[in-house]
Amino acid sequence: MRRSVIKIEGLQKTYGSGESAVQAIKEASCEIYSGETVALLGPSGSGKTTLITMIGCITEPTSGKLYLNTQLVYEGKWQVGDTRKLRRENIGFIFQSHNLIPFLNVQENVTLVPQMNGVGDKEANARAVELLEYLGVGDKLDKMPSQLSGGQSQRVAIARSLANNPKIILADEPTAALDAERALSVMQLLKKLSTEQEVAIVVVTHDERMLPLFDRILRVEDGYVREDPKS
Ligand SMILES: Nc1ncnc2c1ncn2[C@@H]1O[C@H](COP(=O)(O)OP(=O)(O)O)[C@@H](O)[C@H]1O
Ligand SMILES: [Mg+2]
Repeated sequence: MRRSVIKIEGLQKTYGSGESAVQAIKEASCEIYSGETVALLGPSGSGKTTLITMIGCITEPTSGKLYLNTQLVYEGKWQVGDTRKLRRENIGFIFQSHNLIPFLNVQENVTLVPQMNGVGDKEANARAVELLEYLGVGDKLDKMPSQLSGGQSQRVAIARSLANNPKIILADEPTAALDAERALSVMQLLKKLSTEQEVAIVVVTHDERMLPLFDRILRVEDGYVREDPKS
């Protein structure tokens, strides 16, 4: 049975106030279910990053409602005491730039969050090695982030987002730094995860070639969100 994993109702975000206020998201409503892959499309400045970081409990909305796994997470204010913990336990976030921790090596970057969540060292290490090999960077375990290329860093960041077996993966242009072939293989990997492990995946992308891989397409235009009918 499909479970609701993300539900937003009339979500809004205004940055700043008074004359300098920017209404980044004017109104967004949608529901996303386990195992779905959803593309978030829209021109630069349309509010994609704002929307996905609100869903990921990184950006605080201005009004509206947000539910994750049917739990009310935001309504007027955060409804959970520790949004970072909530994120760590439920969401894998892949950013546009990789955000690796510079003083930890590749393997440690991937095991950090599972270890914070109480997963034992042995299990966390085994999972990290498996993911890093799967993403083609299994030979970089003891390298530091500064020793990696942009594409390698992004693959490590993707491994990190998957390390905790999250049921929600949010990705903001995750393949921007990869060549076309790597980008496609990363998207295929995310697609495989969604079907095999019932993970809901929301990806901000500009790449029209990726669209056949998605179940649904949401367009963000001028702060509003609408769904493309699937042809
Ligand atoms: N921290 C911020 N402070 C003020 N305005 C912001 C901030 N972040 C984004 N914006 C503005 O909100 C709008 C939407 O931005 P963003 O969500 O980054 O769009 P996208 O990811 O689609 O390019 C833009 O007008 C942008 O300038
Ligand atoms: Mg953006």
